[in-house]
Amino acid sequence: MKKRIVLYKRLSEGLLAQLQAQVEVTWVDMAKPDGLARLRDALPGAHGLLGASLRLDSALLDLAPQLEVVASVSVGVDNYDINDLHRRGVMLTNTPDVLTETTADTGFALLLATARRVVELAGWVRDGHWQASLGPAHFGTDVHGKRLGIVGMGRIGEALARRGAAGFGMQVLYHSQRPKPQVEARYGARYCTLDALLGEADYVCLTVPLSASTEGLIGARELGLMKPEAILVNIARGRVVDEAALIKALRARRIRGAGLDVFVQEPLAQDSPLLQLDNVVATPHIGSATHETREAMARCAVDNLLAALSGQRPPNLVTPGYI
Ligand code: DGY
Repeated sequence: MKKRIVLYKRLSEGLLAQLQAQVEVTWVDMAKPDGLARLRDALPGAHGLLGASLRLDSALLDLAPQLEVVASVSVGVDNYDINDLHRRGVMLTNTPDVLTETTADTGFALLLATARRVVELAGWVRDGHWQASLGPAHFGTDVHGKRLGIVGMGRIGEALARRGAAGFGMQVLYHSQRPKPQVEARYGARYCTLDALLGEADYVCLTVPLSASTEGLIGARELGLMKPEAILVNIARGRVVDEAALIKALRARRIRGAGLDVFVQEPLAQDSPLLQLDNVVATPHIGSATHETREAMARCAVDNLLAALSGQRPPNLVTPGYI
């Protein structure tokens, strides 16, 4: 008999067909008002879950006593209680690697858009304000040749370092749990304490995973250490930054600007003060959101799920101690 899975993220026809050939799939559309109720109904029979952006709390997991695997279509696993899943004997998998380059592209898109005021000035043109050539009031700031400070030197941090050093002739500074000699050799990067990086970088890019030790990593004190002309780029998680302190710093022009793809509350509320600020570029968590990368992530999650349900070690196992 086929195992049963609950799918709560839309898949391409090809991937869905591949999945349906091997397991019985119950589709739950979490965007619908009855999504959560339908998920609850489906959980008791489920051996696997495949989806993203759902906080799987213990009340939901209690409904799924047969659950063997949760295949997340994401690299970040901060919305799962890994210890609880482990205690229950449920494997958790993620989708690293396939989104690295795309997410680094997003970081650079935000960095460039904020530095060169792309969104603000494109709106200005659309609104019919371009009547004469521009003066300094509309100038941006250079990216090439500046100092790129990367907080978190994992795969995405390294992909940013490569773009900065090779593409834009930037000096790369980084802070991570430990120095990475291979990154230093490849990109001429320099390891710094977080405080030193904040004080020296023209662009501070956050790429750390959200955890107890990175929540609120950048607060009022850290923003106060940044140079007034510096720009903060967050492609990590909203909660890595104290958003209220950031709003204060941006309002006071304590820093030049921020390019933000992630927020404490997502979707970002329409009345968020961040949306009132012309020195902010806000995007809707598009880090990995390209056709190619989302398909690759979904494929990776399907492979993880099918491996786990057939008794093999899934390629991207997050929870420890299996098989
Ligand atoms: C991830 O995979 O964790 C990303 O944030 C989702 O785009």
